[in-house]
Amino acid sequence: MSMVCLSDFEAYAKKYLPKIAWDFFAAGADDCSTRDENILAYKRIHFRPRMLRDVSVMDIRTKLLGAEISFPVGIAPTGFHQLAWPDGEKSTARAAKAMNTCYIASTYSTCSLEEISAAAPGGLRWFQLYIHRNRTVSQQLVQKAEALGFQGLVLTVDLPYTGKRRDDIRNGFRLPPHMKLKNLEGAFEVCEMSLLDPSVTWNDIYWLRSLTNLPIIIKGILTKEDAELAVRHGVQGIIVSNHGGRQLDGGPATVDALVEVVEAVEGRVEVYVDGGIRQGSDVLKALALGAKCVFIGRPALWGLAYKGEEGLQEVLRILQDEFHLSMALAGCARVSEIGRHLVQFSKL
Ligand code: FNR
Repeated sequence: MSMVCLSDFEAYAKKYLPKIAWDFFAAGADDCSTRDENILAYKRIHFRPRMLRDVSVMDIRTKLLGAEISFPVGIAPTGFHQLAWPDGEKSTARAAKAMNTCYIASTYSTCSLEEISAAAPGGLRWFQLYIHRNRTVSQQLVQKAEALGFQGLVLTVDLPYTGKRRDDIRNGFRLPPHMKLKNLEGAFEVCEMSLLDPSVTWNDIYWLRSLTNLPIIIKGILTKEDAELAVRHGVQGIIVSNHGGRQLDGGPATVDALVEVVEAVEGRVEVYVDGGIRQGSDVLKALALGAKCVFIGRPALWGLAYKGEEGLQEVLRILQDEFHLSMALAGCARVSEIGRHLVQFSKL
């Protein structure tokens, strides 16, 4: 099979994954309109490419909170990687390290943080936290991540409850008995999302700050009001995200929300975006609108489903090549040359 673009991996995953796993990865909330909007919104944005600008030598590297990555695409936190590939998150960690980019490991990983660290020592990794009702468990996880060399703490704030994903309900989705939520093992006998704490507020950012010296990145912000609050509460980064359209259906496409958040933040903290990135030109559009870096969720899972670590590397390499080419064709030789002037964008 010749894998040319990310949809080839999607088609492969759809064909070969067990239906229950495919449905879980693909799911959006309710009608899936926000999930689909994430992708459509990129198609509405058009470039203003510049010509004759010497793109013979290209530099597509960038920095995430000071750490260099080979190109501005990282791996968003997603749970249950063993549903895609037996080695699960260990493969994800290896692929991210091989491609010199950042992997955000989910609280709901099927490998432990220790296993993830040991699989790819020295790789750039952030840990994604869901705050659980049992705060001691959350505290221990944060401290473990820091001790293991994770370099950022990503707090996901858009999941006080799990969105209504129809196919998961129809399928009676649950993790197969031989897979475990390794980071929560022992802490909870049941691995139900209902153990998340829906009473979390902005004040809990201060609680997190008291637990760790890691930079805190808040994931799931969609408005200028919340962006301002995030900055005021001292976070180091914001990921504009709607959880891949799996939470509130009817919310904005993330690339549309990105514009509002970037304007509000005025460069005080780094802003990233995830949701709907399917080709290199999408990455260029997101950067043109002010994102420092983008993250991919489902495409990483498709890569794993195709060939584990190698498959994910292939997904990342294709995105890297496409981004490189889009930049050159738009007349940018360096990431620092990408700016708002590069896109026609009316806020409709
Ligand atoms: C997610 N996402 C997610 N986010 C998070 O903070 N913690 C998590 O454990 C998960 N788990 C998860 C599982 C699956 C199967 C999906 C598809 C998504 C959301 C994820 O980080 C990201 O926001 C979206 O996946 C980005 O959209 P795309 O790239 O999938 O379109």
